Amino acid sequence: MIQAIDHQEAVNRAFTRQSTRYDEEDRANPVLQDMRHQVYEHLDQFLKPGSHVLELNAGTGIDALHLTSLGHRVHAIDISDGMIREIEKKIATHQRSGMLTCQQLSYDQLNQVEGEFDYVFSNFGGLNCIRNLAEVTRHLPTLLKKGAYVTWVIMPPVCVWELLWIFKGHPRQAFRRFGSEGVLAHLEGEFFRTYYHSLSDIRTAFGPSFEFIKTEGLAALSPQPHRGDFPRLHPRLYATLRKTDALLRNNFPFNRWADHIIVTFQYNPPI
Ligand SMILES: C[S@@+](CC[C@H](N)C(=O)[O-])C[C@H]1O[C@@H](n2cnc3c(N)ncnc32)[C@H](O)[C@@H]1O
Repeated sequence: MIQAIDHQEAVNRAFTRQSTRYDEEDRANPVLQDMRHQVYEHLDQFLKPGSHVLELNAGTGIDALHLTSLGHRVHAIDISDGMIREIEKKIATHQRSGMLTCQQLSYDQLNQVEGEFDYVFSNFGGLNCIRNLAEVTRHLPTLLKKGAYVTWVIMPPVCVWELLWIFKGHPRQAFRRFGSEGVLAHLEGEFFRTYYHSLSDIRTAFGPSFEFIKTEGLAALSPQPHRGDFPRLHPRLYATLRKTDALLRNNFPFNRWADHIIVTFQYNPPI
């Protein structure tokens, strides 16, 4: 328990330090922009007009703002003081009160959320900060309308780009995501464990009340977000890799082996 609190405090401090420059770095990174665009295309397949969305680990509220601009209502939660401050600024600057609300909360405490939702969304690996995803999913049935969708964007254990480290003579780096004890992340001077979740682990965490709908790879063959300079340095190769991703990302193994996977479930409890 104390370990879990220490972990969450380290995560809070790290992301709070990052929060004030988060949006600027996001905007300046074309790889991240393309990845976000692909996530939005995925969501568009399932979001019904005027949905009430619960966003987990919402960060500074970039996606929450996007969703409200499409007419959806969003309740955004995040564990970090700094991230919540950035969302509050967006609510004020973009006059989103009523459409966008936020709450500082860890996603394993969803019993403290009020409301009934059509959609639960989590983007860009926030859920890789927890070892056991069932601690999140166990609260969902009380929050969801029947037929609601859940889309999570999570980092899986196998990433083609990282496997290439084998050829550079760094096998530990190539297989770093496989460790059962997770990987020690170092962010903004803080150390905390991150955990990589396979599609089968994710399906197990959801259980039989959730129907698995779809998975697709995000940056399966195209570069990872920390290679934000790649499109400028290799524009033709980047365009080719993105096109190849688009052709393969719905098929095995590229819908499971990628930097992130986008996974969607539908809440269909037995009658
Ligand atoms: C990589 S950022 C992604 C933020 C946002 N989803 C985006 O797409 O920009 C990860 C976020 O997860 C949040 N986070 C990590 N652990 C969390 C937890 N236990 N509960 C809620 N948020 C958490 C962090 O504070 C951070 O804002």
